[in-house]
Amino acid sequence: MTNLYTNLDQTNIPKHVAFIMDGNGRWAKSQGQHRLFGHAAGVESVKEIIKTAREIGVQFLTMYAFSTENWNRPAEEVAGLMDLLVQAITNETDDMHKNGVRLLTIGDIEALPEGCVSSLKEAIDKTKDNTALTLILALNYSARWEITNACKLIAEKVKQGVLSTDQITEDQINKTLNTSMIPDPELLIRTSGECRISNFLLWQLSYTELYFTAVQWPEFRRAEFIHAICAFQQRERRFGLTSEQLNEHK
Ligand code: IPE
Ligand code: IPE
Ligand code: MG
Repeated sequence: MTNLYTNLDQTNIPKHVAFIMDGNGRWAKSQGQHRLFGHAAGVESVKEIIKTAREIGVQFLTMYAFSTENWNRPAEEVAGLMDLLVQAITNETDDMHKNGVRLLTIGDIEALPEGCVSSLKEAIDKTKDNTALTLILALNYSARWEITNACKLIAEKVKQGVLSTDQITEDQINKTLNTSMIPDPELLIRTSGECRISNFLLWQLSYTELYFTAVQWPEFRRAEFIHAICAFQQRERRFGLTSEQLNEHK
């Protein structure tokens, strides 16, 4: 473990890391197993990533667990994913609570099956005062849904005369999105070799560093995570400035 952390700059740990956890199905297939076996193995990766994040001081983890588009998968897989979600929440909430993890969700949670909604709400309520790490599960989430919703909410306020069009600022939009209480991610990690965003956090990723790896999610564990953060630490985040400008301020 010591070796793993040698190259890690403890002064430059991203505050918020977002994950597109992809490749469970392909990994399962490579093992001669059913897709749901891959999803179950993926839960083990989630647990290890949460533990590692706490160890190195990442404060927010957002994990894309189920997209709006994922409803179109075979009914058996969707049902299996929902069962797995309830099972994971039931099994892990006490441990998360003990470890100071606060659970939040983004996405249209109310449209999930009743069992999921109640176990999520219970876990969110139980962990609401924890401060070590915030875990945000993106469930029934899509960025276009989120942005469309924000537009509707803002339009409604303008209609009611609570907000003028001049007051529609970036800050106002930030406040209206599902992620109002979370800083933008500095790093996005997508596993499985696909180099796309798949309708995830389109607004929030404006200046996020993107990291794509061919490793499938069930095999993405502590070493892979540390490797991704080390890669992030090599990047120069310029936010539109020149390299020279950034170095002047050092
Ligand atoms: C990610 O793995 C999990 C979800 C999208 C729910 P996939 O199920 O997409 O696995 P692949 O991409 O088919 O291998
Ligand atoms: C993105 O993965 C959604 C989640 C990880 C929950 P998908 O497997 O659904 O994405 P596409 O279809 O390959 O773009
Ligand atoms: Mg996939």
